[in-house]
Amino acid sequence: MNIKEIKRTPVGYLDTPLEFMPNLTQRLGRGKLYIKRDDLTGIALGGNKTRKLDYLVQYAKDNGYTALMTFGGVQTNHGRLTVAAAIKHGLKPILVLKGEKPEVCTGNLILDRLMGADIYFVDSSAADALPPEKRDAASAAFLEECTQKILAKYEAMGDKVLNIPVGGQGVIGSAGYIQAIPEIMGQMEKQGIMAKYLVAGFGSTGTFAGLWAGAKYYKAPFQVIGVPVDPTPRSLETTAAFINELSDFYELGFQCSPEDLRLEMGEGDHAYGGIGYNLPDPVTQSYIEMLAQEEAIFTDPCYTGKVLHGFADMIEKGIIPYGENAILLHTGGVPGLWSQEHLDSMQKTFWADEAADRVTVYRF
Ligand SMILES: Cc1ncc(COP(=O)(O)O)c(C=O)c1O
Repeated sequence: MNIKEIKRTPVGYLDTPLEFMPNLTQRLGRGKLYIKRDDLTGIALGGNKTRKLDYLVQYAKDNGYTALMTFGGVQTNHGRLTVAAAIKHGLKPILVLKGEKPEVCTGNLILDRLMGADIYFVDSSAADALPPEKRDAASAAFLEECTQKILAKYEAMGDKVLNIPVGGQGVIGSAGYIQAIPEIMGQMEKQGIMAKYLVAGFGSTGTFAGLWAGAKYYKAPFQVIGVPVDPTPRSLETTAAFINELSDFYELGFQCSPEDLRLEMGEGDHAYGGIGYNLPDPVTQSYIEMLAQEEAIFTDPCYTGKVLHGFADMIEKGIIPYGENAILLHTGGVPGLWSQEHLDSMQKTFWADEAADRVTVYRF
């Protein structure tokens, strides 16, 4: 199927803005810095998964599905947007979340429940008692068993359930980011922007892979650089193999090898992936604070905050050569800011001791 012929069902609003960041540009004192606002895709507080869902919902409609089911961590943004896409297009939303049911419903979870999603927590923490070599297989088997049970329940009610992998990862959803490239190139031309680098998050990799494939196919004037959202990202071999799958499926006509891809990890205190998936860390938080205070743009601690850290550090250190212009892709995720673990971690900086001279109370 040729990429130019593939149909989409709009889930959110496109084009998203491509904006100059004057204050951050001045603060970092190098080339001109821009941000592509995929946090503003419009639906349900927005984010990158909206672009993937445009194609996944189209696929669901074309094939008679009545429900969308997807998987993720407890605070999955992809889950929130899948629920939103389902609701907007008259499908049933089903979320399968890996982990314990938290005592308090915060962040994305409250939005998921507000939209009426059915949520299933698959808690395999008891598998931690098993010998390390057996843990992953046991958890995977348990997840599969629960998934089958959930599928059977909806099928018994007459539903046909589209089973969307974690992060919307796959050939269908990645069309969204292949097709984001002509959008960005068109905006650059219209706004007279010259930028040699586009910096994007690297998680389940659909976003990065789609962007890379699109940049190659549409001959973009910039290189796509990935920044991992946790310290142990997927391998470049797996990512290159996936890009080749995209190339075959959408008739893009190129081959990709791992050496063609650029992933910047940072090091020491500046390891961009932080200390673990969705774990609060003070360095990421300091960059989140910087962008909020320079540009009034919010980023989250699990994804875009880490990518922002990588973006700013590469500019400061000359990894992105001094004076070159660059674009940061904001992939959304802002509800993570008010998930329980990040709320807790921000109390000291913004509310307690350190904020003492900025937060004042007058009592009658
Ligand atoms: C806000 C946000 N940014 C970035 C990513 C990473 O995108 P991908 O999984 O396509 O690599 C995710 C994935 O869930 C996300 O929620």
